[in-house]
Amino acid sequence: MSKMEKSYIKLLTNNKTWVQKQNQDNPNFFKNLAEGQSPEYLWIGCSDSRVPANEITGTLPGEMFVHRNIANMVVHSDMNLLSVLSYAVEVLKVKHIIVCGHYNCGGVIAAMGKKQYGLIDNWLRHIKDVYRYHYAELDAIKDENLRLKRFVELNVIEQVHDLGKTSIVQNAWKNKQTLHIHGWVYDIHDGLIKDLDVSFKCTKDLHSVYHLEDEK
Ligand code: CO
Repeated sequence: MSKMEKSYIKLLTNNKTWVQKQNQDNPNFFKNLAEGQSPEYLWIGCSDSRVPANEITGTLPGEMFVHRNIANMVVHSDMNLLSVLSYAVEVLKVKHIIVCGHYNCGGVIAAMGKKQYGLIDNWLRHIKDVYRYHYAELDAIKDENLRLKRFVELNVIEQVHDLGKTSIVQNAWKNKQTLHIHGWVYDIHDGLIKDLDVSFKCTKDLHSVYHLEDEK
């Protein structure tokens, strides 16, 4: 096997080292985790390898339910996202949902351009929609880097709105379940997370067009 073919082996070696360390620090670590999970947070982040949810938030296994896709999108026909959201809200009863984007996001960069990439264009189009909703603001920013940064932020804000639009989230609010939705951006350059202060806590925070009535 070539060196590259064998590169995965170190992952298995690392795993054994990690298990040893966890057992040293806390002999009940795996016993406790095997009993079940009750995470307080649902993380919706980008698949980008530079933005590992647990590591950058100092959370341990069991503390965060995680969904990642290209450009941290909440697409209302995405069964994967909806299943994760439904399980997190209705079964695990997480208290906070965090949509975390990041600057220099490849998905957002691609969506800002006009190049074709094949199948992924269908995914990128959801991000392009965000550009259209905020066209006046974004197009007025002449510096391309600043425009990209703002596009990343607006994309996160839009996904926070998209979560609020779901019946899953609105029913939780109707049932007086504590469920806050937050929009954050991770800065690849310094590792810091910026809170965009777009927290949604109840149906009132959402445009009335999207308000749903109780199920009959
Ligand atoms: Co990204």
